[in-house]
Amino acid sequence: MIRAFVGIPLPAEITRSLAALQAGLPAGRPVAPENFHLTIAFLGEHPSPLIEDVHLALDRLRVPSFELSLAGLGFFGGPRPRVFFAEVAPQPTLKHLHEKVVQAARGAGIPLERQRYSPHVTLARFRGGLVGEQAEEMRSFAVSRLGFRAGPFRVEEFVLFRSHLGRNGPIYEALAEYPLNGEAHG
Ligand code: 2AM
Repeated sequence: MIRAFVGIPLPAEITRSLAALQAGLPAGRPVAPENFHLTIAFLGEHPSPLIEDVHLALDRLRVPSFELSLAGLGFFGGPRPRVFFAEVAPQPTLKHLHEKVVQAARGAGIPLERQRYSPHVTLARFRGGLVGEQAEEMRSFAVSRLGFRAGPFRVEEFVLFRSHLGRNGPIYEALAEYPLNGEAHG
């Protein structure tokens, strides 16, 4: 079985600013900077022939390259945050790419659930959800850095990743890369 997702790796200067932002994080498990990425779609665990079919479908996508910026910080998980992230500034071509990737995965036979796409780069995770004093500390850490900005940077490709779960956190292996070289719309 292959645990896979489709994502966008980040350039070195963006990774550096995110790693600098993580310094002094008062709570949670920080994501290792070599693991920073933007998820386009999480595919789940599937037999390799199915992942191969998704690969063939992804290989056929024609989407133009685009620019991305990170702007702001946030939490997922409501009153008990589980994830701290850097937000991706709205980018219509990224949304289009997300829709195409979801369509390609469904077409290949992976029943992805309908979910709102909130593009983000995860910086830290809080097992069991953040509560009490740690939640307060984490909130003021985030508030004092809300003006965080990084980029813009050009996205020229997207990647099919395999995630190997290990005791020391996941290891992401790039299985295939797809150039963004489609015609621009309009
Ligand atoms: P994230 O994008 O919020 O960090 C690989 O596991 C990537 O797929 C992670 O970046 C992860 O979250 C994202 N992802 C989305 N849904 C997931 C799920 N149900 N289980 C694991 N990872 C998921």
